[in-house]
Order: sequence, then C-alpha cells, then structure tokens
Amino acid sequence: MSHLFLALLSALLLLSASAAAAESTLTQSRTLAGDQRLTSPGEIFQLGLFPAVNRSRWFLGIWFTVSPDTVVWVANRDRPFSSQSGVVAVSGRGALVLLDGASNDTVWSSNSSAAATPAQAQLLDTGNLVLTDKDGNILWQSFEHPTNTLLPGIRVGKDLRTGAEWSLSSWRSADDPSPGDFRYVMDTSGSPELKVWSKGRKTYRTGPWNGVRFGGIPEMTTFEDMFEFQFTVTAGEVSYMFRNRDRSPMSRVLLNESGVMQRMVWDRTARAWSNFWSGPRDQCDNYGRCGAFGVCNVVDATVCGCIRGFAPRSPAEWYMRNTSGGCARGTPLQCGGGGGDGNGDGFYALRGVKLPETHGCAVDAAATLEECGRRCLSNCSCTAYAGADIRGGGSGCIQWFGDLMDTRFVDGGQDLYVRVAKSELDAIKNTRNKLVLVISLVITGLVLLLLSLGFLIRRKSRRCKKFRFLDETGDFITGCPTCPLEIIRAATNNFSPDNKIGEGGFGIVYKGQLPDGQEVAVKKLSKENTVQGLKEFMNEVELIAKLQHRNLVRLLGCCIQCSERLLVYEYMSNKSLDKFIFDESRRTDLSWKTRMDIIIGVARGLVYLHEDSRHTMIHRDLKAANVLLDADMVAKISDFGIAKLFNSKGGRLDCTVTERIVGTLGYMSPEYAMDGRLSFMQDVYSFGVLLLEIISGRRNHLSSNLIAHTWMLWQEGRNLELLDPAVRGECTAGELEQAATCIQVGLLCVQESPDERPPMADVIHMLSREKAPGQPRRPVLCTPMMSARPVVIDLGAQETIAACGHSGRLTMTNLEGR
Ligand SMILES: *[C@@H]1O[C@H](CO)[C@@H](O)[C@H](O)[C@H]1NC(C)=O
Ligand SMILES: *[C@@H]1O[C@H](CO)[C@@H](O)[C@H](O)[C@H]1NC(C)=O
Ligand SMILES: *[C@@H]1O[C@H](CO)[C@@H](O)[C@H](O)[C@H]1NC(C)=O
Ligand SMILES: *[C@@H]1O[C@H](CO)[C@@H](O)[C@H](O)[C@H]1NC(C)=O
Ligand SMILES: *[C@@H]1O[C@H](CO)[C@@H](O)[C@H](O)[C@H]1NC(C)=O
Ligand SMILES: *[C@@H]1O[C@H](CO)[C@@H](O)[C@H](O)[C@H]1NC(C)=O
Repeated sequence: MSHLFLALLSALLLLSASAAAAESTLTQSRTLAGDQRLTSPGEIFQLGLFPAVNRSRWFLGIWFTVSPDTVVWVANRDRPFSSQSGVVAVSGRGALVLLDGASNDTVWSSNSSAAATPAQAQLLDTGNLVLTDKDGNILWQSFEHPTNTLLPGIRVGKDLRTGAEWSLSSWRSADDPSPGDFRYVMDTSGSPELKVWSKGRKTYRTGPWNGVRFGGIPEMTTFEDMFEFQFTVTAGEVSYMFRNRDRSPMSRVLLNESGVMQRMVWDRTARAWSNFWSGPRDQCDNYGRCGAFGVCNVVDATVCGCIRGFAPRSPAEWYMRNTSGGCARGTPLQCGGGGGDGNGDGFYALRGVKLPETHGCAVDAAATLEECGRRCLSNCSCTAYAGADIRGGGSGCIQWFGDLMDTRFVDGGQDLYVRVAKSELDAIKNTRNKLVLVISLVITGLVLLLLSLGFLIRRKSRRCKKFRFLDETGDFITGCPTCPLEIIRAATNNFSPDNKIGEGGFGIVYKGQLPDGQEVAVKKLSKENTVQGLKEFMNEVELIAKLQHRNLVRLLGCCIQCSERLLVYEYMSNKSLDKFIFDESRRTDLSWKTRMDIIIGVARGLVYLHEDSRHTMIHRDLKAANVLLDADMVAKISDFGIAKLFNSKGGRLDCTVTERIVGTLGYMSPEYAMDGRLSFMQDVYSFGVLLLEIISGRRNHLSSNLIAHTWMLWQEGRNLELLDPAVRGECTAGELEQAATCIQVGLLCVQESPDERPPMADVIHMLSREKAPGQPRRPVLCTPMMSARPVVIDLGAQETIAACGHSGRLTMTNLEGR
C-alpha cells in the first residue's frame, strides 16, 4: 500500500517538475525541435510540430493545451515537412525561423530583423506568439498573421497605411492546414463589412457594422454579455475584433472548410467545443440569393420577393425558383421630371432588413437621416439610402448608386429607403389608406357593437328562461318540462374548463352528457354574435336543423337564456380534422384511404349544402378545424349554420357583396377577402385549400403558402412530392394516381378566377374519376407574398394586409384555424 502511495507521490512530483520546466520562450540559444513544445505561462496554449494529412506532413502550429486537435495558427501552411524533423529557432538577425532539420534550409521565416539583438520569442496566454528585440519592442507577432481562426484580440481588417490585410483563409480540409478555397476579408469600400469569398465569388456577408453589431448578425446582441466587440474605423485602420469578458469561457471564431463562420465556445464540463453560432445561418444569407432588388424572407414559402415597385426581371425563371436574375423596376424613375430637384420620385421604406451590399456606396457618418434623404433625392443616380449607425436613434448616411444586392429581412434589421417613382408610391399609399380605413371602421364597429350589446343585455334580462329543443325533423318541440339550460349546465359541469373541447370566433365548444347518456357538443356563442334578434336567430336555427346529411354535423337543439345562446350538436368522438393532419404523431394514423374518404365526404357535404338541400347555403368558413370526425372517421362539416342562409335556390348568388366578411385567412378566396364578393366559389376555394392540406399534412399559412408551393411542384411535374411523407411510402401505384388527380382538382379549386373553379358536384365527379379534370391555371399566389413582406408598409402583421382592400366590416374567426 505505502509503495503504491510513494509511487504516486513521486509521479506527481515528476509531473509538477516537468510542468515547471515547460518553457514559454525561445532564444537564440534555446531552439525547439522534434516533439518539444513551447507552453504559454498559464499553460493555455502550446506551440510545436504537429502532423496532418494522414500523418504524412508536419506543420508548426499553436493549439489549445486542453484540446490539442484545435490548432489555431499554422506557420508553414504552404511548405510542410515530411517528417517531425523541423527546428524552430530565433536567428541572429532577429527573425523567427523554421528550419528543415535534415538540410538546414529555411522553410519559413517571420522575415523580421532587429537592430537590438538578441531577440526572443514568447508564447503568451492569449495564444499570441510574440517576437521582441532586446529592448522589448515587438518585431513580429502571430496575431498579425491569422490563419483560419480568430481568437480574442486578433483583428480582421486592413491597415490603410501599409495596405496590409488581416484576413482568414480556410484549411483545405479538416486534416490539411494548407490554404483552402475560402477567405474571410474586410471590404472597406462603402460601409465596412466582412465577406466570405470562394474562388473569386462572394458567398456570405455579415452586413455592414451599424455601430453596435454587424447588421446581418442580430445574435451578436445576445452574446454581448460574453464578448466585447470592437470595430475600429480610423484614417489608418479598419478592423474588427472581439474580446472575452471576465469569466467568459474560451472561445474562437473559425472559417471552416465549407466556408462557414463558426463561433465555438469551450464547454468545460463536456470538455468539448460547442458551436455557439454559425453563418451563413440560412439560405437568405447566401450571397445574392434573390438577385438585384430582391428581398429574401426565410419564413416565406417562396423565399424570394421583389422590393415594392419592382418585378422579377425574368418571370419564367423566377417562377422556377431561379431567382438569381433578380428584379427590375416597374415604373422608371422620374428623376428631374416632376420638378427641379428630382421630386418626380420618392422613397419607399423597406423595414427591418440586412442592408444591401454597400460596396461603392457613399458614406457620411456626420449627416442626419433627413439630410441623407435630401442628398439622395437630389442625385439622380442615387437608388436608396439608409442610416449608418443605429445608436442614439440613428445617424449617418449611406447612399447606394446602383443595384441593391443581397437584401434580406432580419431581426432587428434596419430601414432601407428605396427610391421609386412617385406613381408607385401613390399606389402603395392607397393600399395603406385603405387599411387605415378598414382598421378605423373595425374599431368604430366594435365600439358601436359594445354600446348596443350593453343595451341589449339590459333589455334581454327581462326575457329569461326561453328555450327550445328540436325534434327529429328539425321542428321545435315546445313545452319542454324543464329548462334545458339547467340540463346543459349539468351536462357540461357548469361549462367547466375541463369540458372545453374547442374555441373559435363564434364561441366556445364544450363536451357534455345529457341525462339519458347521449354525448353532445355544446357551442356557447360568444356574446358579440348575440346582436341578432331572438326571432331571426330562432328561425335560422330551425333552418339549419332541417339540413340533414351524413357529412354534416347534426344540430340537436338550441337554448337561450338571458344573454346566453347555446347550440347543441351531436358529439364527434374523434374531434376535428386539424387535430390529425397538423399533428406530427397523429398524422400517421390517417392512411391514404382515410384521407380520400374524408375528402370525398367533405365534398359530398358541400354539394348538399350548395345544391341539394331545401335551403342552399354557402358555408363561408370551411377549414380543417370545422371538419369533425366521428368514431368511424366519417367526416362531418360543422359550423355551417352560422353563415348567412340563402333561400333562393338557383338564384344568382354570384357577386353578392356581403355586408360582413366571415372567414379564416388562408381559406378565404381573394375575391371574398378583398372585395367581399361571396359566392359558392368561396367554399370551392376553401375546399381546394383543405384538400391540399389533407394531402400534404401542412397548413396553408400566409407565411408559408401551400398553394404557391403546390403550384411550383405542379409546374415542375413534381406534384407527388406534395404528398405527406407519412403516407407517401405506403401508397400503391393506383393510390398515387388518385393522389395526382386530387392535387390537380385541388389546384382547379384554388384558381384565381372564381368562374374557372369547378362547382362542387363536378369536383365529386373528378375525384371519383368519372370526369377528367382540366388543366389548372395559375392559382392565387397571394399578392403580398409576391412583393416584399407586407410588414414593410408600417402596419404590423401580414394577416391584416391580406384582408386589405375591403372597405366594409371585417370579422375573422381567427387567424390560423383552431
Ligand atoms: C492513411 O494511411 C493509412 C496507412 O498508411 C492508409 O491505410 C489510409 O488509407 C490512409 N488514409 C487516407 C485518407 O489517405
Ligand atoms: C545545421 O546547423 C547547425 C548549427 O547551425 C549545425 O550544427 C549543423 O551541422 C547543420 N546541419 C547541416 C546538415 O548542415
Ligand atoms: C518571407 O519572405 C519570403 C521571401 O520573400 C516569402 O516567400 C515568405 O512568404 C515571407 N514569409 C512571411 C511569413 O511573410
Ligand atoms: C462548417 O460549419 C457548419 C455549421 O456549423 C457545419 O454544418 C459544417 O459541417 C462545417 N464544415 C466542416 C467541414 O466542418
Ligand atoms: C438562372 O438564371 C440565370 C439568368 O437569370 C441563368 O444564367 C442561369 O443559368 C439560370 N440557372 C439555372 C440553374 O437555371
Ligand atoms: C451623385 O453621386 C455620385 C456618387 O457620389 C457622384 O459621383 C455624382 O457626382 C453625384 N451627382 C451629382 C449631380 O451630385
């Protein structure tokens, strides 16, 4: 036992002795050869020879002591040794040299010389290898010659006096430090920014420095507590570096072999590097993704859009998603045309972007933004301007004179003012005014609604305890012995939140159990919908109750007490379709056959509503959340009664301008959403969207437009790629054919012109292949998608914009379905 202890002790002593002996300096008399190492005083970095390229080449490098594979600097990248025989020495003239041990040839030299010799080299704890003369003056340092890694304190940039450049170049491969294809360089023209180049082409830009961070890297703000960023612009130097803050972990920034900038941080517990950030972050960071005057938006299915007032230069290629051609101006600039100082033009504010490439731009840090606009307007070749520094409310001026390249939307982005002809600007303003009008109308409407509600509630309180139930044929049963409201209260546990099974714009749905054991769904209408008079309400309910079809949810009764209005429906144990198709795990429960049955079922229900029932009716709000599934997965359309009823069977319903828009964005046809024109074709459109959603298992969002995506796949003949991966693999050839037909029918239903959409009866025939579907024409690719992101015209969410243009009141059940 004591022997072992002694042995351990002596081993420890030996270890500490060798640690104490670890050298951090080289002098003329102390060289480094073979497997010897130089270790920084705090033992953070080591310098020595290391093998690479399958151990066939040897390089002199510096690495982290804790992670010897992480080489941060290499001397002889171009001239490796073939064995470990190199010698590192400080020459008599004051240069650090690397000699070939066999021939004494100089393989690499710092090329420095000192007047006051002897010189010495020391490896510091920062990772810097510093060569100083006898008086301590720095002759050379590795930090001035970075390879592929930035450590805290290493600059990238340019020395404007000497023309020297501090840049990174990638390794050839992970096992080969010789210079690879990528370089990370400061572009000092315009507003300085860093760019990655590969073989003469730009691949990535950080965006110009905006006083706080690089405009294209909003994440920098989030690591400010760990790192301090220093950006220097003086007459003699433009450079960037970062420093660690107290107690921040070891970190480095690397240009990796695929041209990606990676910020790595040392995880002490895992003893490994973790990737903290990397850029390019997404496809919008790929240089020139959307071409000149394009704007990239990662949350759009289409990714690329044109700046307002611009259109794809080559629409055919653009639709095939080759967006590199970019966009061209719609209306030529009127510079000088409208007046003496070029006021035939104006500026359109593109909000929240990574500014376009500023190479060749005029930058004036002293000008105000206002002054900047004036200057740009008065110079006919100026195409855009923006502030240069975001600090203190913004200052400085950047002016562009040519194409606007590589613009993207980014968190915390800047505003870019793009010069466009006045006429374009007027068009944009009109949309905006309409929106303001819509919003103020909505607000006025709401205020009136609240006022009248207050009035009604007071009036209603005298009308308590009115109730009706419906018999099998939908006629009212009168004379119920007890108030059904009490029954329903009991059935739903007094509308307990635990019984809540859904919620929509019309109210909340509760599950309940009647005394005889029957399960029901009780819809408690929200109070806003109770403005309708009691009598009309009862009449409408009676009509709805008369609609009976296998694919419609049956209304069992209604109940009114005080201000409460309840509709009682049969209960559907499998809840709504959206709970299946948009759920990662439950989606797989829907086989192709089930999906097809649901599609046909919904189509049948709609045909009944549109044509077969006594009271033809437009649903108006068909969506996945309104298709319920019973225990046998039979699809049943719900909520149909709430829309307006039409008694005039076969009457001209087209072009009815409804006084009130009800619907869900994503399912609303453009003519209805924009102009309030309601026809059966609104339901056909919603059905088309629903069909595509069922097939793909994806939601049609404004921000990720399923229709545009389907259209693109269709045009490229890749339509089956739309098929939900959860079923694609299991479909037989016949089912795949059926799916292709479905997609075609779906596209027919979402065509832009309502007249071209097939009536529901034809849809059924096409789906059951009794009728060949025609060739779909271009669907509605929602206009706000095609131009830039609508947020740019100042008024918040995209959802608002899609409803623009309509000057009446607007009610949305909600934005994305339940
Ligand atoms: C590395 O060397 C070993 C043996 O010398 C050889 O078997 C292997 O194929 C080499 N690997 C590469 C990637 O060249
Ligand atoms: C290399 O230089 C060292 C010292 O300058 C000398 O001792 C050695 O003999 C030289 N070797 C060869 C191969 O020239
Ligand atoms: C030193 O000078 C030589 C010859 O001019 C050159 O090939 C080499 O790249 C220089 N070394 C460094 C580190 O700049
Ligand atoms: C470069 O970094 C990216 C992002 O972290 C990573 O996906 C990629 O694999 C890296 N490339 C190499 C060659 O390590
Ligand atoms: C994309 O369009 C450009 C012209 O705008 C053309 O030169 C290029 O070949 C196209 N690329 C592809 C992959 O079709
Ligand atoms: C417009 O700006 C460009 C670039 O700064 C400059 O060369 C040109 O002289 C200016 N033109 C006028 C009329 O000021």
